[in-house]
Amino acid sequence: MRASDHRFAVMNWILRNEGIVPRAQARVDIDDRGHQFGDGIYEVIRVYGGTAFLMQPHLDRLRRSAREIGMVLPWNDDALAARGEELMARESMSDGILYFQVTRGVCPRLQVFPPEDVTPQITAYARPMPRPCGEADEGLHAHLVPDIRWLRCDIKSINLLPNMLARQKAKEHGCAEALQHRDGIVTEGAFSNAYIVAGGTVHTHPADNRILAGITRVHILGLCAAAGIPVREEPFRVEDLRGADEIFISSTASEVAPVIRLDGQPVAAGKPGPLTRRLQAAFRETLPAD
Ligand code: PDD
Repeated sequence: MRASDHRFAVMNWILRNEGIVPRAQARVDIDDRGHQFGDGIYEVIRVYGGTAFLMQPHLDRLRRSAREIGMVLPWNDDALAARGEELMARESMSDGILYFQVTRGVCPRLQVFPPEDVTPQITAYARPMPRPCGEADEGLHAHLVPDIRWLRCDIKSINLLPNMLARQKAKEHGCAEALQHRDGIVTEGAFSNAYIVAGGTVHTHPADNRILAGITRVHILGLCAAAGIPVREEPFRVEDLRGADEIFISSTASEVAPVIRLDGQPVAAGKPGPLTRRLQAAFRETLPAD
């Protein structure tokens, strides 16, 4: 597969700190700490019909991630949102994603924080991307893997090596997503949050240091509360996953997506379950109109 075969379109404009430049002119210094150490954080925000969805919670999480790694974001929310709008306009983007990344700055490879005059580097772009219709309609296959990540999965760090290795393992098993477990407790997907439905209750791992507190997850839990669907934010086990009535995942990119097979075995009837369908419908009703 060539990079250009991917369903993601190539973006034309890149924000690098103060300036928005054509992609070919965007440069990353070899000594950028993101490049050297993965010393940075990021956010992916969904855009529907030209409107960024849940922008404020994403910006709040970006600021939290920065704080948790001892970094101060150089820009306020209004400035970040305004630059996001500018990027969307440059790409004439309707459906897609906004990507923000902030690294600790440019400095020779120091194994501690750089001197104070080193300033964080911001990169952002708007990338057109279709909605995940197939996965959402038909459901996807998932593969269970051990969770080999660090114990600060609540930080949206650009260090995605274990996540990518998990997703690759899934792909090698003909699956679109990996579901991870730590010592038998199901944590989350490689790039998504994970849920099971058992006896009409939605179960999902608590938002502690072992998972990313997904913005979509918070939104879905709000939809459950509004619809009177019981939720238990408590650890559940691999056995519970295997015996679940329904499994679904959520993320900015995949929205609410049913899992219909786990390691080749059908999940219940092997098709998207009724509660997942209900949540998908409720979720879609909250999206900005095209
Ligand atoms: N990933 N857990 C992990 C490990 C993730 O990487 C993601 C999202 C989520 C879901 O979070 P949210 O609902 O805020 O998107 C949970 C993004 C989409 C990515 O890296 O592309």
